[in-house]
Amino acid sequence: MKIRDYREEDQASWLRCRVLSFMDSSYFDDVQRDREKYDNPVIQIVAVDHNGVVGFLDCEYEEKQGDVCYFKGDRGGVIWHMGVLPDYRGQGLATAMWHAAKKRLKENHVHRVEVWTQDDLEATRWYLKQGFVFKEAYLNAYLKGSLGDPTLKKFLNLQDCGDIFGIRSLNFEAPIERKEELADICYRLHEVRVYEAEL
Ligand SMILES: CC(C)(COP(=O)(O)OP(=O)(O)OC[C@H]1O[C@@H](n2cnc3c(N)ncnc32)[C@H](O)[C@@H]1OP(=O)(O)O)[C@@H](O)C(=O)NCCC(=O)NCCS
Repeated sequence: MKIRDYREEDQASWLRCRVLSFMDSSYFDDVQRDREKYDNPVIQIVAVDHNGVVGFLDCEYEEKQGDVCYFKGDRGGVIWHMGVLPDYRGQGLATAMWHAAKKRLKENHVHRVEVWTQDDLEATRWYLKQGFVFKEAYLNAYLKGSLGDPTLKKFLNLQDCGDIFGIRSLNFEAPIERKEELADICYRLHEVRVYEAEL
């Protein structure tokens, strides 16, 4: 197993690894078919074996304060993507990728890193173990139903939208304070939490 920088030729293998790594997490339907282009400098680390990419970590960082991070403060970075294929977990791969990224971030005078992640236990435990501290959260909520559903009617004004059938999925963000109320009516509800670590 090798930990190294991402290369252009890793793209197909990286995208496949991302889908498979998220399959058993709350990000199972967050499928990306192309590699994004970052506006700011980025550290892209991969774990590879003879089959290709088995783990990945992308951390974009600021050239000037406020370009990337949600919180104000020292020059910071954001981990946008991190995952390891299920069969390769628990061997220290995410930790090794994070150590490699941290070294590079420090060399580039980045002093703190943020991450937005949902309520997956494995990932949450990993971030806390690495010294990330919980800051705040909001809700990622999903509703569905037939057009006559009184709950949906509360959220949507469907009078002027023409002839449609049911709502397959209404996905919206909401304040964390509404968790109890929304838990009763949503078919899927996640806490989206932001954590921060000092380097
Ligand atoms: C979160 C995730 C990336 C962790 O990957 P991982 O490679 O299994 O993580 P690590 O191996 O570094 O750490 C996991 C455990 O293995 C243990 N471990 C085993 N061997 C190890 C070694 N040689 N070195 C370090 N840790 C080791 C760690 O102590 C840790 O133990 P813990 O469960 O008590 O915390 C992985 O679970 C994942 O891909 N989850 C789904 C995707 C996801 O949720 N991503 C985050 C969304 S932003």
